[in-house]
Amino acid sequence: MISVLVLLFTLVQVRQEKERLTIDLQRRSALLGESLKESIEPLLEKERPERLQKIVEKFGNRERLAGVVVYDVKDKLIAATPSLSAHLSDPPAFVTHTMNSDRESGEFFQLGGKEMYLYTLPLHREEGVAGALVIIHDPSYIQERLSLIWNDSFIRFLVNAFVISLMTLLLIRWSMAGPIAKMAQWMKHLRTEKKKSPFRLPSARIFEPLTREVTQMATSISAAREAAEEEARLRNTAESTWTPVRLKEQVCTLLRERPLLVISNREPYMHEKKEKKIGCLVPASGLVTALEPVLKACGGTWIAHGSGDADRDVVDDQSKIRVPPEEPQYVLKRVWLTKEEEKGYYYGFSNEGFWPLCHVAHTRPSFRAEDWEYYQTVNKKFAEATLEELEEGGEPLILIQDYHFALLPRLIKEERPDARLALFWHIPWPNSESFSICPWQREILHGMLGADLIGFHTQFHCNNFLDTVDRTLESRIDWEHFAVERGGQSTLVKPFPISIAFPGQTNASTANSATRPNKESLLKDLGVKAKHLGVGVDRIDYTKGILERFKAIELFLGKYPAYQGEFTFVELGAPSRIHIKEYHDLISAVEIEADRINWRFKTKEWQPIVFLKKHHSHEEIRPFYETSDLCMVTSLHDGMNLVAKEYVGARNDESGVLILSQFTGASRELRDALIVNPYDIEEMAEAIRTALEMSVSEQKVRMQAMRETLKNRNIYYWAANLITALAQVRLEKTS
Ligand code: F6P
Repeated sequence: MISVLVLLFTLVQVRQEKERLTIDLQRRSALLGESLKESIEPLLEKERPERLQKIVEKFGNRERLAGVVVYDVKDKLIAATPSLSAHLSDPPAFVTHTMNSDRESGEFFQLGGKEMYLYTLPLHREEGVAGALVIIHDPSYIQERLSLIWNDSFIRFLVNAFVISLMTLLLIRWSMAGPIAKMAQWMKHLRTEKKKSPFRLPSARIFEPLTREVTQMATSISAAREAAEEEARLRNTAESTWTPVRLKEQVCTLLRERPLLVISNREPYMHEKKEKKIGCLVPASGLVTALEPVLKACGGTWIAHGSGDADRDVVDDQSKIRVPPEEPQYVLKRVWLTKEEEKGYYYGFSNEGFWPLCHVAHTRPSFRAEDWEYYQTVNKKFAEATLEELEEGGEPLILIQDYHFALLPRLIKEERPDARLALFWHIPWPNSESFSICPWQREILHGMLGADLIGFHTQFHCNNFLDTVDRTLESRIDWEHFAVERGGQSTLVKPFPISIAFPGQTNASTANSATRPNKESLLKDLGVKAKHLGVGVDRIDYTKGILERFKAIELFLGKYPAYQGEFTFVELGAPSRIHIKEYHDLISAVEIEADRINWRFKTKEWQPIVFLKKHHSHEEIRPFYETSDLCMVTSLHDGMNLVAKEYVGARNDESGVLILSQFTGASRELRDALIVNPYDIEEMAEAIRTALEMSVSEQKVRMQAMRETLKNRNIYYWAANLITALAQVRLEKTS
């Protein structure tokens, strides 16, 4: 490209120079001719050829002048510079033409094999044109000048090409080689060291795709290395901690190539449209937190309601997509529901009926026949979606999740008696008297008992369930083995306290544990200056005791004013089920309550409560877990509550205090938390003070004990127990 430009530029320059030099030559020839004419014309008149010849010879010696020739009007040569007379004895045609037209003219002309410039002027006598004077110049200097221009351009081109190549080379070295070397250093460090690499990956946009892939690959490699090391360590120390690798081995042995299916209402990944782009988010759900690591470890298919507004845009023609998006490990199959179905089955029967029925939170359940109809329809729809998946593989293991699918076990069992079905109930089970207010209690229990295994978080809920069945249906309860015998089928009812993937046993946690955030800067970002930080993480749900928690904070600050200006509580609240009036109203109530308390205490730089109302990702929540002095889980009733476990899991510095409601399943395991009754505001206010004033050593003892519990009773332990029990239920029946 550059060469073409240089060539064009030189061509133009040469043309212009040639034109200029030719005009100059013509001008000089004309001037010379005019002055010669004055001497020649009188001699022509007097017909003095010898004198004419002398003048011609005298002029012919001038610099660059090759010669002079004079013709008479009959084209006869009458005087000429001697060296030219032989070549120009006859005039060229344009000389004759000049005489005929009586007009001066200049031409380039080949003379004796050499190019010459001939300028012709008509000579006059009184009667008119009497001949022609031809001034002949040697124009070779023009050619030399033009050659010089070509040479100059060529040299300039060479220098430019050299400089540009050098700069390009330096630029490539600086912009590519540097970052690539950095990337190599980063990868080498990762390969040889166990710590997080101190080198930074190049951030330039051009490297983005490469950086993304390299980071992903590195994360997988380091997770695999950690898993292998953990396995080796466990083998050496004969520890019994469950890891993804161990779970995978166990499940593979149990499954023997048979498919594993998980069915839940909430999907693990929702695709949403955001500013014309499709984004993917992980919903706020304890169930998702718990089951995702299992599917990641074992593979399989997860069937769930496709509720994201861009969900349909990303699935294949069987409504399937492989997830997690960044490193697909299992299949997500989406089931589509109409607005009416979602309203009746999800918002209506599940969350205005079942949810308050099972949680003793003093919100009255609503049972509507129309909702019940939709609940049955949607359970059938999920049964069909599941049965479609079973066509290829025999004797599958199916893990049905939660109160949205009480009828599903029976619907599947009727079609596929060989399927091993577990129903895990993530929320509490009330006592039989409370449950009996449900108009369809018999149908619900009948549906549930299609499962081979029913799991709850606690033995207490198992007992409530067995008691409910005992009082409602004709059946035999085997209290020794905690089983229900009915219509020739046996259903085991057992507790499986759900948990989390303990940090260090998952990819996500290890990737971030190296860099602990700073409490001050976290608060500064929220526009608050405080010494102590408390945190709460919840779906905004009336069972979570958020208003009670705020009241306790108010009471604490009123009772211990020294903490005013010192303690701030950040509530990370994810709006949930907002089309239900109670939930909608609760969001406003929480906002109003936070406002009221803030207004009462706040100063210019400080406020007691920061309520962040939005869905927060795990990455956004983690810094709050890691830096807060205390975490409050104050549910009025909760099956397990994984926030409590996540907080403990995040505290690898072994500090921080967990304030935990006695009405959560988690309180049965995390006994070193400060256990509170959320209805007792005084007690909670005191717990806040105790937490903030607890010595570092006591925090450590408590945190260590809770972490030890979680380390052993992690999500892999839960999954291994549930799946093993399910496999054994079948073995017992067939043996
Ligand atoms: O943990 C109980 C549970 O209902 C889960 O089944 C559910 O995923 C979670 O709470 C969040 O609720 P939702 O899915 O209705 O937003």
